[in-house]
Amino acid sequence: MDKISSIRGMPDVFQSDTNYLAELNEVLSKIFLSHNLIEVNTPILEQTELFVRSTGATSDIVNKEIYSFNDRNEQSLSLRPEGTAGVVRSIIQKKLDNAEHKLWYQGPMFRYERPQKGRFRQFNQAGVELLGFEEGSSDLEIISIVCDIFIELELEDSVLKINHLGDKDTKEIFLSELLKYLKNYDGKLNESDSEKLNKNPLRLLDSKDTELKNFLNKGPKIIDFLSPEQLNLLDMIQSVFGKYVEIELDSSLVRGLDYYTGLVFEAVSSNLGAQDSFLGGGRYDDLSQDLGGKEMPAIGFAIGLERLNLIKKQKNIKANKVISFVTTSSKMSALAFKIAQLLRSHNYDIRLETNFTDASLKAKLRKASKLGAKFVFIMGDEEFESETITVKSFDEDGYQVNMTFDEILDFYKNI
Ligand code: HAM
Repeated sequence: MDKISSIRGMPDVFQSDTNYLAELNEVLSKIFLSHNLIEVNTPILEQTELFVRSTGATSDIVNKEIYSFNDRNEQSLSLRPEGTAGVVRSIIQKKLDNAEHKLWYQGPMFRYERPQKGRFRQFNQAGVELLGFEEGSSDLEIISIVCDIFIELELEDSVLKINHLGDKDTKEIFLSELLKYLKNYDGKLNESDSEKLNKNPLRLLDSKDTELKNFLNKGPKIIDFLSPEQLNLLDMIQSVFGKYVEIELDSSLVRGLDYYTGLVFEAVSSNLGAQDSFLGGGRYDDLSQDLGGKEMPAIGFAIGLERLNLIKKQKNIKANKVISFVTTSSKMSALAFKIAQLLRSHNYDIRLETNFTDASLKAKLRKASKLGAKFVFIMGDEEFESETITVKSFDEDGYQVNMTFDEILDFYKNI
């Protein structure tokens, strides 16, 4: 019979030495808690209309990447491509859009993109949304959370790019100047950039076309149209957080979703290759009203866990220690299981691999070495009789010591 394989870009994920997704989630949730954020879980499936009205009818997400289908009731549903729209929808639905909320979430997102290193069709994001907060200290708070992620995960070779898209009026004036300037480039735009020109000209600023990029570099810059308050915000971010994170002002940063209104930012890492952005966010003051809610200024960001994992993997940070516990035959397995149970309950940071079968000790040691075990605990006939365990180190020194059960418990707790 034909075998069935998974969908392209949606790999099965096994947690291993080189896959720290669970650990990353743990670190991130601690940081979010330390900022007094509350976890929220919204559904993976939403009405398609939600994403059309939020990420924008002209965005790549809605035009090319969304997974949509009609259910049995002929209602158009979509797998969520991102988390912000669902969170805002949920707050409006609960009639809580007149209050402040500091929320975080994590879970799978879906985008029909061309799979490559760091780019999947199903991937995981952890995100933060501060809802009901005007521009000002909430912008600094959001950057402070990003900063904690940089510090805690030791992302010192990454850069945080920031920009400000201005308010509605600034944006309008800037766009008319940009369009005037682009007249000198008439007829030279490629197909995808001409489409952007018609639908959302601001997105031309992050065009991949080098010639256009060079041309735009010499053109009007949004920073020259910002108010003193908006410029002050960019200055404050750099002066408060610049000593922890490398911050770069990038006037070509516009982000791919249509809902952004003020501060926007993206974190990039030189360890990631073409898909170098692992975190992105910004202010979206109009989204609540675009979704039928009250005025609810907001700011947030999301971080891609697979991309974060790639950075960590390259740096080979902290894999939990592996210890192999073996017996020379299955006859000691009842006692060995009791000891293993006791050991684990005193230190869940260690991966205790057990092998209490009748296979040869040589084979068990070979397997332990392959697993990268730091120590092997051996219980043979002699140890069984004397109620001890032999600890063999797999380090270069290769020492071997015999310990009582109490001693080994103490040893295990402090590894
Ligand atoms: P985004 O920039 O589209 O923003 O996605 C955030 C992060 O998700 C990216 O920086 C990247 O790490 C990861 N990501 C995106 N697409 C893929 C993919 N195909 N494969 C793997 N990872 C991917 C948002 O989604 C906004 N909702 C962020 C936000 C929250 N803005 C305000 N609040």
